[in-house]
Amino acid sequence: MQPLDEAVTTARLLSVAVDACKSAGGLLLDYARSGFQIEHKNAIDLVTDADHAAEQCILDYIRAHFPTHSTLAEERGHDAPPASRYQWIIDPLDGTTNFAHRFPVYAVSIGVEWNGQGVVGVVYDPTRDELFTAEAGHGAHLNGQPIRVSSTTQLDGALMVTGFAYDIRETVNNNLNHFARFALKSQGVRRTGSAALDLCYVAAGRFDGFWEVKLSPWDMAAGVVILRAAGGRVTDLRGHEHSTFQPELVASNARIHDEMLSVIRESLSS
Ligand code: IPD
Ligand code: CA
Ligand code: CA
Repeated sequence: MQPLDEAVTTARLLSVAVDACKSAGGLLLDYARSGFQIEHKNAIDLVTDADHAAEQCILDYIRAHFPTHSTLAEERGHDAPPASRYQWIIDPLDGTTNFAHRFPVYAVSIGVEWNGQGVVGVVYDPTRDELFTAEAGHGAHLNGQPIRVSSTTQLDGALMVTGFAYDIRETVNNNLNHFARFALKSQGVRRTGSAALDLCYVAAGRFDGFWEVKLSPWDMAAGVVILRAAGGRVTDLRGHEHSTFQPELVASNARIHDEMLSVIRESLSS
């Protein structure tokens, strides 16, 4: 248990994040059962009233417990009470396209940073009732059981996962170049549609590696804390230090990381 300032422990942050994720996950299931409204942010980027309701539920809960902490939520943006060292980074529904099509792969994601460092991550998949949690430096868990990254040592035998941003039709920096190379060099590449779950699945050893070129802070904040706590490695596409506020991400079981970076290097230089 890491003591932070204002007499807040990471265990307390974790407990509030878990409760907020579970409440929001319950709401998402209610909307999935009873129906929801879809709006278009652009041609293929959707948002539903379930995204907004889940986000409001999370923000209300955090505000009730930590009124001085700042929040960054996907739909609402930044809400910054003065000089808080805590930032809660929230994706109320990661996998909106899946949700809108009734493909049951989506999650609620809440990461907490203290002084810019990820200290707590919680990702909840309500359709499988799978709760991924971590306090930095204290291991990662799935429904209370410890999880660890895989021991796969070569890309040739690795199951990979990736995703594509909503501007895929409008730019050449759309990840199709890296996708083509990994499809030929790994055992297989999947695309689940939820980056938060992709990171947790690497943490749990279900996937060996994950990369994307254009993620947002709320897609990664929680999953990166969970993956690191499970023994994984996270960098940008060139192997430099990862930041939640930069869009590139290479995440792995650590053992195949250098091989992943060299595949990406080849496609960047061709
Ligand atoms: C998206 C998902 C997807 C990833 C996209 C994200 P959203 O988030 O995480 O897997 O490939 O880049 O934008 O819109 O479903 O919250
Ligand atoms: Ca997302
Ligand atoms: Ca979202």
